[in-house]
Amino acid sequence: MRTLLIAGNWKLNPTTAEAAAALADGVKQGLGSATDVHVALAPPFVFLTRVDQVLEGSPIGLAAQDVYWETNGAFTGEISGPMLVDVGCTHVIIGHSERRHGQGETSGHVNQKLKAALAAKLIPIVCIGETKDERLSEKTEEVLLEQLSGSLAGLSPEEMAGVVLAYEPVWAIGTGLTASPEQAQAVHAFIRGWLTEVFGEATARRVVVQYGGSVKPDNAAELLSCPDIDGALVGGAALKAGDFLAIIKAGQEVAARGKS
Ligand code: PGA
Repeated sequence: MRTLLIAGNWKLNPTTAEAAAALADGVKQGLGSATDVHVALAPPFVFLTRVDQVLEGSPIGLAAQDVYWETNGAFTGEISGPMLVDVGCTHVIIGHSERRHGQGETSGHVNQKLKAALAAKLIPIVCIGETKDERLSEKTEEVLLEQLSGSLAGLSPEEMAGVVLAYEPVWAIGTGLTASPEQAQAVHAFIRGWLTEVFGEATARRVVVQYGGSVKPDNAAELLSCPDIDGALVGGAALKAGDFLAIIKAGQEVAARGKS
């Protein structure tokens, strides 16, 4: 079975390094040394070093929320893969819908960022997902196909096996609306089918595909129990250590039970 990955995407929160350290410490203390489920935290860039210090000695991974494709040079405001590794990052979120839709990132950009992350030996978490209008006009699969083929273009099966995907329906992010376990599982199965077609069955079986979009302590168990859902990318509920730990616990219970 694939090991579940529960990642907390803090987005533009919290406001101070002290608050970031306290939140990371709360998760660290609550998790202890457990490794039955993989856990990662994605604070804003400016708090990465502080959070890395707090996480020392814990199995929790450190994720950035974005990466630029160039290594260095005249690119004002950008941050590169080697820089992220230098401050302790193990993971990086790429192509979050708030960047695709808010900052005009295309699947081509995501592909360049993904290759830069792999070159830096970061574990990429590549986000894909349809908007509400796209779902209502039955374009979900068409949109996902464009995002999958564009974002993952040129990868070898071996590289693909090391990429984490996060299916995040845009209409479920931060809205309190969650895809039902049936809706989410159907899309995850579609994604796994595409991976099988393009990269082969052995690779498709290894790829961790997270679900994201209003994952909370009270819906985590049902979502994480779905056969093709391999973890969660958590926004709002990752800002309270207690809520995030409850989601991790739901994952640990699923891992202990095993999936059919
Ligand atoms: P949410 O965010 O859990 O607040 O919906 C998820 C995400 O954007 O990764």
